[in-house]
Amino acid sequence: MTTPEAPLSGRVAYVTGAARGQGRSHCVRLARAGADIVAIDACGPVAAHNGYEPSTPEELAETVRLVEGEGRKILAKEIDVRDLEGQQRLVADAQEQFGRLDIAVANAGVLNWGRLWEISAEQWQQVLDVNLTGVWNTMKAVVPAMIEAGNGGSIINVSSAAGIKAVPGCGHYCASKFGVVGLTNSLAIELGEYGIRVNSVHPYGTDTPMGNDLSMYGMFQEHPTYVYSFSPGALPTESLADPGLISDIVLWLASDASSLVTAAQIPADKGYLKI
Ligand SMILES: NC(=O)c1ccc[n+]([C@@H]2O[C@H](COP(=O)([O-])OP(=O)(O)OC[C@H]3O[C@@H](n4cnc5c(N)ncnc54)[C@H](O)[C@@H]3O)[C@@H](O)[C@H]2O)c1
Repeated sequence: MTTPEAPLSGRVAYVTGAARGQGRSHCVRLARAGADIVAIDACGPVAAHNGYEPSTPEELAETVRLVEGEGRKILAKEIDVRDLEGQQRLVADAQEQFGRLDIAVANAGVLNWGRLWEISAEQWQQVLDVNLTGVWNTMKAVVPAMIEAGNGGSIINVSSAAGIKAVPGCGHYCASKFGVVGLTNSLAIELGEYGIRVNSVHPYGTDTPMGNDLSMYGMFQEHPTYVYSFSPGALPTESLADPGLISDIVLWLASDASSLVTAAQIPADKGYLKI
């Protein structure tokens, strides 16, 4: 039975990109709310043009330790979101171990920089493959299990402020994150009859290895006017948000507190999108 302290008690959540950053924060927060966790991460290099370090197996092991520290179970595996069959196999294992699947957070993503006509076909394709096809792979893996469990549920796809407002210098990333919105809203309508809600979350600068990627500043140096597309937002807070603040929104969307909300784009942006 769920309680105000454990609104996800008895439920099971699948989280991608779980080794660090926002994904780890979501795992721990959902576990603290009572959910058992199924977690994946590539734990290694995923896109050749990234200007920041890849995650490691040790980081995924730390997520496992933190979730267990919350008193919950976790099934974690090194799987790339581009590996559809790998995700399907893990969901099957999770069904066997936990008997149900209620929540999915498609969080894994990559960001790198370059003007649209100057990036290589490889740079374009890798970002689209991870950020958009990777989310579709996750949906294809989890939805049949969620329908079969018959308990309704909540799917949360992590897009970006750049999935609502296009910015210069990372058009391939914007295209992938706009794509996540279309996928989210079509799926929300298709899954309505099963009581499964589907929403997207749109963070702005967040304090993670991706959010601290310094290669963005090289782009601003070469094209100073681009900086006008990245206002600091309306609130007098730290420029990079703590990942836990995004987890607050993910937890709300995962819980029954948001039971009327589906096919929605929830900003986590301090008003940036309106400025
Ligand atoms: N940090 C920001 O400022 C920011 C802003 C808006 C949106 N986002 C989005 O938030 C999400 C989480 O990013 P973060 O800030 O925690 O970044 P991060 O780089 O710190 O963490 C991302 C995690 O996803 C994993 N991952 C990446 N590609 C993968 C793949 N192909 N398969 C499996 N795992 C993979 C990485 O290994 C890493 O552990 C991403 O979708 C990102 O686009 C981030």
